[in-house]
Amino acid sequence: MLVGRLVLLLAWAVVGTVDEPTIAVDGEGTLYINSTNRVVVNGVDVVAVLKSFAVFGSNAFASHTITTTAELAYSVYAADLDNDDDLDVLSASVGRGQIAWYRNNGDGTFSNQMIITTDAEGARSVYAADLDRDGRVDVLSASQDDNKIAWYRNNGNGTFSTENVITTAAYGTRSVHAADLNNDGSPDVLSASFIDNKIAWYRNNGNGTFSEQLVIATDADGARLVYAADLDGDDNLDVLSACYDDDKIAWYRNHGNGTFSPQMIITTDAEGARSVYAADLDKDGDMDVLSASASDDKIAWYRNNGDGDFSDQIIITTAADYAVSVYAADLDNDGDLDVLSASHNDDKIAWYRNNGQGVFSDQIIITTAADAVHSVYAADLNGDGYIDVLSASADDDKIAWYRNRLGQMFPEL
Ligand SMILES: *[C@@H]1O[C@H](CO)[C@@H](O)[C@H](O)[C@H]1NC(C)=O
Ligand SMILES: *[C@@H]1O[C@H](CO)[C@@H](O)[C@H](O)[C@H]1NC(C)=O
Ligand SMILES: *[C@@H]1O[C@H](CO)[C@@H](O)[C@H](O)[C@H]1NC(C)=O
Ligand SMILES: *[C@@H]1O[C@H](CO)[C@@H](O)[C@H](O)[C@H]1NC(C)=O
Repeated sequence: MLVGRLVLLLAWAVVGTVDEPTIAVDGEGTLYINSTNRVVVNGVDVVAVLKSFAVFGSNAFASHTITTTAELAYSVYAADLDNDDDLDVLSASVGRGQIAWYRNNGDGTFSNQMIITTDAEGARSVYAADLDRDGRVDVLSASQDDNKIAWYRNNGNGTFSTENVITTAAYGTRSVHAADLNNDGSPDVLSASFIDNKIAWYRNNGNGTFSEQLVIATDADGARLVYAADLDGDDNLDVLSACYDDDKIAWYRNHGNGTFSPQMIITTDAEGARSVYAADLDKDGDMDVLSASASDDKIAWYRNNGDGDFSDQIIITTAADYAVSVYAADLDNDGDLDVLSASHNDDKIAWYRNNGQGVFSDQIIITTAADAVHSVYAADLNGDGYIDVLSASADDDKIAWYRNRLGQMFPEL
């Protein structure tokens, strides 16, 4: 009788949905209500309430340790290194000058640490790209103490070559990135270095040999991070920098012929800028810019007006204590990019949910147990279609991942 009434009530509530909803009871008495639209009970949109609990009120991300032997871990990245269609994990750690990888078994469990090199003194940054264009993803490192950018050829059998040095003239390098800057189909390499305040690139000859250092800027004061994205919509990848010493997020327009414009300032309000990223946050078809700045604990973004002209700083949070890393990914699978932060002093990985127009929720904490975290990244590690989160933290020598359970809770969230 009660079930009958409930079914009636729900049948009434879902009338008018686009897709025909179904209500059924199985042999064990379980009631199934299937609706691709809202389910309203006594005026309450129950699915919306439950989704909101899932996102904000519970631990939607389950923490898993990949290793605790990445001594003074600084950087983490994910790429399919063994061509088995899942994403493996890479780490750079300052202790022992180490670049290492962890093979993904496909389900988000990982092999033990496999060392690629211990010759990257003070390794701060790791990245991956197919530099010699043999169909296998190679590995890149930036090491602060030997001023070196180097790469390691993927042998295709789970081993890597010894280092191929690209430069030792990136003084105090903190960041390496790869992007095809001259549109010849092979990824070139970028570096940021803070002792010589330099942003530079190295042209790939197409076979993994590189040009000498080509300087883009020497006024990147205390350069900490370099990134590339097409900011003005001319199909050339422009270059972005985050500079700790002059609090600047800036970009350099790619002329398309291997030369770059002088520095163009996006903001000088990122105090102690540590990280920059580009993503279309407001879904208007151009790349907006994100910053993480340590001294003002801030994650902020800058709206691209389409041609590389940026809005004033729009603050997402100032609750990321000594913010060091920022990234964007669609964590809730709703078609827009959410923002992730790593903050060093509160050992925190957090995210900010995008409502679609670039308006972000309050900080949602994923963990506060990444001790002296330096890097956050995101990728679907277990192949469930939901993007997981990765961290590298120095004081616990840890590379960890946080399994996104939103998909499990709400397959159609
Ligand atoms: C309704 O949901 C139940 C339980 O998830 C499922 O077994 C069933 O196939 C669904 N029916 C429809 C029509 O989607
Ligand atoms: C992997 O490939 C490299 C280069 O071809 C070769 O030198 C090495 O012996 C191989 N290692 C294994 C374990 O197969
Ligand atoms: C790589 O390409 C450059 C430019 O075409 C050429 O000079 C060089 O010899 C090549 N090196 C190797 C190892 O193939
Ligand atoms: C590259 O393009 C820029 C802008 O069009 C131009 O000013 C510059 O002279 C060009 N440089 C070379 C080396 O072609």
